[in-house]
Amino acid sequence: MIEAANRLLTVEEYYFSKKLREVNFLITSGKPIINLGIGSPDLQPPQRVVEAIKEGLLAPNAHKYQSYQGLPELRDAMARFYEEHFSVSLSATSEVLPLMGSKEGIMHISMAYLNEGDAVLIPNPGYPTYQSVTKLVGAKPVFYELDAANNWLPDFEALEQLDLSKVKLMWVNYPHMPTGALPNTYLFEELVAFAKRHGILIVNDNPYSFILNDAPKSILSVAGAKEVCLELNSLSKTFNMAGWRVGMVVGDSEHISNILKVKSNMDSGMFYGIQKGAIEALKCSDMWFVTLNSVYKQRRDLVWQLADALNCTYDKNAVGLFVWAKLPGSENAEAYIDSVLKNNHIFITPGTIFGSKGEGYIRFSLCASNEVLEEAIKRVR
Ligand SMILES: Cc1ncc(COP(=O)(O)O)c(C=O)c1O
Repeated sequence: MIEAANRLLTVEEYYFSKKLREVNFLITSGKPIINLGIGSPDLQPPQRVVEAIKEGLLAPNAHKYQSYQGLPELRDAMARFYEEHFSVSLSATSEVLPLMGSKEGIMHISMAYLNEGDAVLIPNPGYPTYQSVTKLVGAKPVFYELDAANNWLPDFEALEQLDLSKVKLMWVNYPHMPTGALPNTYLFEELVAFAKRHGILIVNDNPYSFILNDAPKSILSVAGAKEVCLELNSLSKTFNMAGWRVGMVVGDSEHISNILKVKSNMDSGMFYGIQKGAIEALKCSDMWFVTLNSVYKQRRDLVWQLADALNCTYDKNAVGLFVWAKLPGSENAEAYIDSVLKNNHIFITPGTIFGSKGEGYIRFSLCASNEVLEEAIKRVR
């Protein structure tokens, strides 16, 4: 038997990869499962994106390897998007790097900055990939706890009390997944000051800022942020393009060139047609966001009704693609979602997959139609 590398001992198969096998088994055995687990947008991308991708397929150069840094027009479109929506000026030549989704950026950044034994600040609750990638590169996760009582924002007093001597990188993610918490007015300023005080690179993972949120913010809008911060962004949720795999990392040119050193050794460019589609997406007017969010608003109202029917509580000011709800009493999240799956055939994500601070919470995805959500409410009532 050929043994796998030791690094595999540090991680497990991704929760959804395992759980969706179980859910799919139930579906193939005839159970009418409603899947409110994963945040994979079911809505269509803008029509012009699909047209551009189709046209791209016929371009004579479409089948060649593409630039490691993406088409100059794509980097331009990304820089203009940041200027228009976040008032952040970026050099399209040196401060923007297109990625195949922001998820791969988490690995590239970790490979570019972490040595074995370095420590990484990771939110609890938070996106599980921060932790697994940290372990895969031989670094050590140091969790910072987020709490409903502090609107799921970092507690800087508690952070200052941690041993930060080995901390090289900190993941933050506002608007926050899974809770939907928004950054308050000072959060990004405080984070930049914290990063400078301790010589830590902060990465804000920002894929949800356009979903049910009227005021998208970038950490790079803070003066001096580029020295110590990077930001990841993504077209997956903003333009319903999750399967096309387009994201970006933006920040200071030196950081970007370090990340490119890793990335250019791992892939050989993004498919031409997808880049052309992404350019079109980034040019969409505000009407796109208004229309998209009017659909999500209706769905969120229905999910709130579903959460009410399950006697859960939630914050109506939260944003993003999910509703994060507190279970009644002291219910155990995994046992609870298993019983809803068994009794009502509805799959909901247990908060515990995002860390111990997710115990007692569940997360509903808004990636299901009104009809499906109405059916879910009917089943629970
Ligand atoms: C917080 C967070 N970061 C990153 C990602 C990955 O997004 P992408 O599709 O851009 O790789 C997700 C997707 O679910 C997410 O929730």
